[in-house]
Amino acid sequence: MLQPTSDASHDNWSRWILEQRHGADGHCEREVGVEITRYADRVLDFAGLRAGMTLVDVGTGDGLVGLRAIERIGASIRVIMTDVSARLLQHAQARAQASGVSGQCTYLHCAAQRLDGIADNAADALTMRAVLAYVDDKPAAMREVFRVLKPGGRFAIAEPILRDEALEVCMLRQLIDSGSIDNSDPFFPLLLRCRAAQFPDTEEQVRALPITNYGERDLVRFAIDAGFTDIHLELHIDVKTADCVPWETFLRMAPHPLSPDLETILQTRFTREERDYLEVRMRAMFESGKQPGASRIAWLTARKP
Ligand SMILES: C[S@@+](CC[C@H](N)C(=O)[O-])C[C@H]1O[C@@H](n2cnc3c(N)ncnc32)[C@H](O)[C@@H]1O
Repeated sequence: MLQPTSDASHDNWSRWILEQRHGADGHCEREVGVEITRYADRVLDFAGLRAGMTLVDVGTGDGLVGLRAIERIGASIRVIMTDVSARLLQHAQARAQASGVSGQCTYLHCAAQRLDGIADNAADALTMRAVLAYVDDKPAAMREVFRVLKPGGRFAIAEPILRDEALEVCMLRQLIDSGSIDNSDPFFPLLLRCRAAQFPDTEEQVRALPITNYGERDLVRFAIDAGFTDIHLELHIDVKTADCVPWETFLRMAPHPLSPDLETILQTRFTREERDYLEVRMRAMFESGKQPGASRIAWLTARKP
């Protein structure tokens, strides 16, 4: 499972943010934009950002949180945007230039575990939205956050908790393997193969992969171990029926940046017959509008003493 693909112009991260997150559908892109701007605002509220501060936004992606901070606070703040994707940093820079705020921004190509280029005690506030989930050494990243913050500086993160999705796929595998599901219906084994391309399907893999091997309590522990105080975490779980996007858009979407999109899974992992059968069943479920989906996000904030 989880076999990221690549082409000349995109890396996995840029492909997801610029295409697969919204299925390259303009209407869906605007709706996603509204939702993630709400998330960015919440992260910035938790970070306690004020005029004159220097903000580090780690794993900035297309610059969502960093540029929103400038929009909210104005010309007095400075934003350091970091990312492992050079393509996304270029994209964030182009957005900053288009908004006329590039002079307030610095761009650093580095991993969260090694914030090279940022001095000790340099930042008043630090944000990470949906980044730590993909970092293999989360405690090391938390120590870097501590290092670059000034005493009294605050960080705020919002991380998806994807473990439950993966455990549901593991459970489906167990039910199929134990014969608890009627094997005369080929749908569930096909569905399992599809879901196993998006999430780990064994508990060993769940424990091994960075995106699923932690929960909200681990985030609190990492913050304590790094030396933070005034630690506060809220886990928000929202379950709702999927917003109705066209099936063709849904086919081009992936649930997270390390997953192939559904179309690629169907085309590369199934025979024509299997694909036709699976797609008819999945599409009927999807278009019924009755399929509940859950989002689990851990919001953590803390202060460097
Ligand atoms: C889901 S996106 C979130 C982007 C952005 N923070 C936002 O709120 O839209 C994950 C981002 O983390 C970046 N990333 C992945 N691994 C990273 C690492 N080890 N260190 C820093 N950034 C990383 C990716 O390039 C991508 O931009």
